[in-house]
Amino acid sequence: MSDNELNTLDIGSGDEPMSNHSDNPHFASILEKRMSRRDMMSGSLTAAVAGMFGMSGLASAAQAVSSSRPAFVPPAAGVRPPFALNPTLGFTAVPVMRSDTTILPVGHKVQVLAPWGTPLTDSYPEYKGDGSNTGAEQEQQVGTHHDGMHYFPMDSNPNSHGLLCINHEYIDLFPLHQGGANMNNPRPEDQVRKEIAAHGVSVIEIRKDAFSNEWGIVRGRYNRRVTANTPMEIRGPVRGSDFVKTQYSPDGTMTRGTINNCANGYTPWGTYLTCEENWAGYFVNRTGLPREQSRYGVPSSNSRYRWDTAQGGADQYVRFNASVRGASATADYRNEPNGQGWIVEIDPFDPNSTPKKRTAMGRFAHEGCVVAPPQLGQPVVFYSGDDSQNEYVYKFVTRARYSRHVNGDILDDGTLFVARFNDDGTGDWLALDINNPAFRAAALARGVAFSSQADVLVNTRLAADVVGATKMDRPEWGAVHPQTREVYMTMTNNSNRAVGAIDAANPRGPNPFGHIVRWREQGNRSWATRFEWDMFLLSGTESDSRMLPEQGGPALTQDSIHASPDGLWIDNNGILWIQTDMSGSQQGSGPFGNNAMLAANPVTGEIKRFLVGPYDQEVTGITATPDGKNLFVNYQHPGDRSSATAGFTSNWPEHGAVYRHPNDPIVFVNPTGPRPRSSTIVITRDDDGVVGL
Ligand code: FEO
Ligand code: CA
Ligand code: CA
Repeated sequence: MSDNELNTLDIGSGDEPMSNHSDNPHFASILEKRMSRRDMMSGSLTAAVAGMFGMSGLASAAQAVSSSRPAFVPPAAGVRPPFALNPTLGFTAVPVMRSDTTILPVGHKVQVLAPWGTPLTDSYPEYKGDGSNTGAEQEQQVGTHHDGMHYFPMDSNPNSHGLLCINHEYIDLFPLHQGGANMNNPRPEDQVRKEIAAHGVSVIEIRKDAFSNEWGIVRGRYNRRVTANTPMEIRGPVRGSDFVKTQYSPDGTMTRGTINNCANGYTPWGTYLTCEENWAGYFVNRTGLPREQSRYGVPSSNSRYRWDTAQGGADQYVRFNASVRGASATADYRNEPNGQGWIVEIDPFDPNSTPKKRTAMGRFAHEGCVVAPPQLGQPVVFYSGDDSQNEYVYKFVTRARYSRHVNGDILDDGTLFVARFNDDGTGDWLALDINNPAFRAAALARGVAFSSQADVLVNTRLAADVVGATKMDRPEWGAVHPQTREVYMTMTNNSNRAVGAIDAANPRGPNPFGHIVRWREQGNRSWATRFEWDMFLLSGTESDSRMLPEQGGPALTQDSIHASPDGLWIDNNGILWIQTDMSGSQQGSGPFGNNAMLAANPVTGEIKRFLVGPYDQEVTGITATPDGKNLFVNYQHPGDRSSATAGFTSNWPEHGAVYRHPNDPIVFVNPTGPRPRSSTIVITRDDDGVVGL
């Protein structure tokens, strides 16, 4: 295999190289100013919350909410919640661990649910452990590389019956196929069909059996596979524009598939949001990259999996070649990449619905899309990170005001903002709106022309460059506190941040460990254009880490050291869950062990390791039943792809007994044993209590 082929294949981490070559300044002098401001600020955001409500109120809050909280009971506009959640982390931290199983605190148990290949629809084809399932069978089975996820409870039995929506981010080529992938040109059509089908989203009806207390998949009418080939409607300002006219959709209203679905979101009106992250590499353009491709890193040599070379040359595969080949845009697929990079809305309760690409929310490597608790009569606000080195943090504010009668169409009209984290701990949301005078002036000053709002949105990264957004250390998941509306966002790492290019919001260069930034919007109004921010956590080793550094918080300990925070979620009890995505080499070299999930108290800064997963997976995706007693978590790519050519480095979850360590946990792996499978796990407590408290 050539170096070129190796390069094409060896991007399985889902990460993309930096493609932001704009001259936006790294605020090299910010750190000093920021640190001097530490003395000026009387306390952190959380300290302000605690002071506002008093610790006795916090304590009673923990008791008051320990049962359950119905989702989305919107407070009236301007009314502050009566108390701040201050959860007690009632478990003993688990240690750093290298093994091929799940490590949980005493008193918890785990169930594997819906691993890759599980029969899901139509003829329910059984999973074949030798990789011999066909493309047609994969289209009826759960996809692989589980990532963002949300549980939609059924009204009648919300804590034991619901729909689980799961993203399938990408694939490991070698374990996917019997005998490995054939990457020669042309590629075998059925391998490509299977790979396309293994991507996308699964909608799975699940129910907890009252006798066994185990969750199972219901073979009912809701189950659905959305893949990288599913027809989708283009909505919002880009719909019908020249940017999305293709041979498949000459009027620019439709496209096919959703690609590299990483983190997720959900809406107050009960729909699922899936987010297209590292989609650019799936295409190739050998005839010159327009800015809407070059700024996102569309390759000019080979596409990631070479789907465009599938044998037979069917339209659904050729479309991944974005080269200019026809007489016009409606005679080829030069615009096909413009159909990717969006937030996609899916109605999980209508399996026949057409997914909608909500273009008003911007086009970039969307990690996730988290909604702020909506307020009646006010705009609805969503936050989203662009996960590449030195990219940006965004939010979208609907034009329409929230009521119980709104639906997803309000996502077609609103304002997209990008964040500037100022050196003094304040921040500004900068509108990316062609009708905004400040935006037009900024574009003019930078010599960048936009012809329409569709142009702005297709080129969201470029629009953010011109307004001077702050380059961040790979923004991943965001989480909004259900009561305080504080926003937390992981910056997973940035090996390319130079020492001289640090700033207050990205204070380490290079940044191998990552950090978590948080902010509160001015007046506690999510739609505000100004905010205050501070550093919640500098991840890392015991000697290079800090909780709440600007308040003089402690370093992490053996109970909490970790790196590359990625997944993030705040549950109904106020626990901030942090999931890690360290590379295989970082897991192997220590000192952090396998990827893990930690729980933190946003009020006190207490943090503990709750879970350690099997070898070479990342812990990602998290949701729960409304009562908090069933916590759903995903393991993605156990064994990883990097060593799959030489044998599996994980057999999770189907270990051969001979390789089981007598002292459990499982530490030995059979390289020719069962192939590893991405999967959801369900965590419950032996005493049926709320997980984490
Ligand atoms: Fe797919 Fe940024 O993780
Ligand atoms: Ca991620
Ligand atoms: Ca990641």
